[in-house]
Amino acid sequence: MCGIIGYVGKESAAPILLEGLRKLEYRGYDSSGIAVMNGSNTIHTRKKKGRLQNLRDLVGENPPEGECGISHTRWATHGEPTDENAHPHLDQSGKLAIVHNGVIENYQPLRKALEAEGHVFHSQTDSEVLAHLVGKKYEASAESDATPQMRLVAAVRDALKLISGTYGIVTMHADIPGFLVGARLGSPLVVGLGKGENFLASDVSAIVSHTSDAIYLSDRDLVYMTDSDFKIEHVEGGSVEFEVSRVDFTPEQAEKGEYPHYMLKEIFEQPTTIANVFRGRLSDDEASAKLGGLNLTPQELRDVDRIVLVGCGTASHAAMAGEYIIEHLSRIPTEVEIASEFRYRNLPMDKNTLIFVISQSGETIDTLAAMREGQRKGHRVLSIVNSVGSTIARESDGGSYLYSGPEIGVAATKSFTSQVMMMSLLGLLLGRMRNLSMREGQRMLAEIRDLPAKVEMILQQTEKIRAIALKYIDAQGMLFLGRQFNFPTAMEGALKMKEISYIFASGHASAELKHGVIALITEDLPSVFIIPKDSVYDKNVSSLEEVKARKGPVIAITTEGNTDMEDIANDVIYIPEVDECLSPILSVIPLQLLSYHFAVARECDVDKPRNLAKSVTVE
Ligand code: M6R
Repeated sequence: MCGIIGYVGKESAAPILLEGLRKLEYRGYDSSGIAVMNGSNTIHTRKKKGRLQNLRDLVGENPPEGECGISHTRWATHGEPTDENAHPHLDQSGKLAIVHNGVIENYQPLRKALEAEGHVFHSQTDSEVLAHLVGKKYEASAESDATPQMRLVAAVRDALKLISGTYGIVTMHADIPGFLVGARLGSPLVVGLGKGENFLASDVSAIVSHTSDAIYLSDRDLVYMTDSDFKIEHVEGGSVEFEVSRVDFTPEQAEKGEYPHYMLKEIFEQPTTIANVFRGRLSDDEASAKLGGLNLTPQELRDVDRIVLVGCGTASHAAMAGEYIIEHLSRIPTEVEIASEFRYRNLPMDKNTLIFVISQSGETIDTLAAMREGQRKGHRVLSIVNSVGSTIARESDGGSYLYSGPEIGVAATKSFTSQVMMMSLLGLLLGRMRNLSMREGQRMLAEIRDLPAKVEMILQQTEKIRAIALKYIDAQGMLFLGRQFNFPTAMEGALKMKEISYIFASGHASAELKHGVIALITEDLPSVFIIPKDSVYDKNVSSLEEVKARKGPVIAITTEGNTDMEDIANDVIYIPEVDECLSPILSVIPLQLLSYHFAVARECDVDKPRNLAKSVTVE
């Protein structure tokens, strides 16, 4: 939610900031702005409602001059998307600019108090309050012996003491050329270390074309920097430890290349990203998986008697698939908790309960809070995360990275299959320590190794799937139905469809149809059945027939060779044969392609759907 980037160096700041915002636009895209400082003690600000292109058009041929600046792309929390509410915000003097990602919960009383002192506000945002507070504290120290730089640092510290909420901020003052101050609590902020230039950004994708050396700040870290130096301290004062990391992807990986959309690129990356999950993690000798990052001894793994999987959105659907897979392979009772529920519900758990938090970004606020809640209660919380160096990855007690590369399309695709793949490895590992035979383990290894080629075969059907999507282009809703391992897939298919095409879609366990959902069936409501030739196939067919009997059109996703479906369903998409517990990894691919082609045909912005942002860092 919201992307920020700050630059201090020797180059013209505006083009660097605009390019950085392009990389961060997936974090929020309802308005954007830049502020650039030049040597004449002036800050020039440009802000515009709407997509980043509007800001680019405004800046046009006449960008503000200067080698130090800050910028922001917004996902509105307080105040509508307007030019005035766009960041950066200025203080009362107009000499201090700030960009903020997060929520200031007590902004109303603070604003009232400042207004009573004569401060004039120009927006409805919570963030403008912070600009005024920092500016006021800075002015108040005018008589101090401290340097202007250290006065600004102290002003930021003092202002942050007054607010409750979350923040990732970067600020600068017109009187202090070439100097930035940043801080974080609950919203990510990364320091990029260049040669003769330094950066602050919400994530590394904004800076990777300039530098691969990054410092992921922790909560309550404060940083101040010039083009040649930086210092990181506690917001409350005192030194902190930090580590310089190498960014694990190239600038090209964060571009969409030959693809029209990031979402399509990421769907097509799945043969590789699935292989990235299991590469180096399969043991033929033990017919098992190796997940070293879990930081658990074999005995500790054997002692696990319950697993709780926690995530949001697509990650929670992957967790649902994981629940079925882990129980099937290891017989360990497993359950799924949506992170926002888990953090407040006080789930009873004993000492042998293992918690996994699952998150692509590693920054989702509810998942992060759920992890901290689990840890507060003395549990070991492990993570399954894609973004290397993210907050969840750093704060968890161990875990495994997905290594899928940056996922930029707002609709999660490759992260789902990678997460399900990872939980399959976990199920295999835990299963082989319990009742799963060597022979079964070996069979699973072969099945896993075959997955990338099978995904490739499904991807080759993209044109066929596009034709099916076009056939239903006027549908105002869609049902997604599946059973057992593919009930979560149905949930995920529905989420993909509704978030990028804006039609109503819902996912259900097929047998639930007759408990109410069937009332919706008409000849205008297509149903997508995920119906591979598995142990519940016949039951699934009965549900499908019930829909057909009521004239509901059916798109069936079934196993190659199952020609029966040609006679019953209106449209059939085939997936290769696979062990049923791994089938969600294949069956979700046609659903991703179906929703993609459907949304493109309806001229929706699939990479930046309305009202959404990639990483949900506010509650
Ligand atoms: O980064 P995370 O995996 O924690 O994100 C969780 C959800 O916000 C995310 O999956 C969201 O539901 C996607 N837009 C779904 O496509």
